[in-house]
Amino acid sequence: MDDDGLKPHILKGQPMSEIAESDLRSLHEKILVCTLCRLSETRRRAVPGEGPVGAKIMFIGEGPGRQEDLEGRPFVGRAGKFLDECLQSIGVQREQVFITNIVKCRPSEKSGNWIRDRKPSADEITACSPYLSRQIELLNPEVICTLGDTATSEIFRRFGLEEDTIGHVHGRLFLAGRLKIMPLYHPAAALYDNSLRQIILIDFQGLRRVISQTKLTSY
Ligand code: URA
Repeated sequence: MDDDGLKPHILKGQPMSEIAESDLRSLHEKILVCTLCRLSETRRRAVPGEGPVGAKIMFIGEGPGRQEDLEGRPFVGRAGKFLDECLQSIGVQREQVFITNIVKCRPSEKSGNWIRDRKPSADEITACSPYLSRQIELLNPEVICTLGDTATSEIFRRFGLEEDTIGHVHGRLFLAGRLKIMPLYHPAAALYDNSLRQIILIDFQGLRRVISQTKLTSY
């Protein structure tokens, strides 16, 4: 993709946070009208992501589901409610973190009379990838939490970490330069397998420790 327009437009004397905020806003406007892949043909609304530009923690899921596609916001369905609960369990409010996905439009498929979610394909991930790169660049987070296997393999690949299953890496901390990466099970997994609920909550306690050790003062 030609990334013209995804570069910062710096005006002399303007604070960096304002520049990042306005660049993030224009990036999200681009995402809302993006037609780079077939997901744009079936989406109702693109879901760029949300959170303050000063967020030091970024959560990255796989892709919007049905509810997210309707509302244009990430993690607002049942999995999102559990994500909110996990954040609350460590004293963090959803509004303090940035939440987005690997692909910004809902990957769906027909199944009989139903439309159901599916995993994004490799070409859809590639088409969407400059958007996530720019979000990471603008937010410059201290910690990235990947939610589930799709987000974990994509972020591990990008940052040169050795790929492994989410079952092996969940709750562990990985370093890519000064960036901390913590893979977590996808919150939706707990909706299908109740035993994962407790494991996810324990992994979030690990994130709490990272927040304290890193002295992320806004949390
Ligand atoms: N699952 C995801 O991966 N992302 C969302 O935004 C919602 C559900």
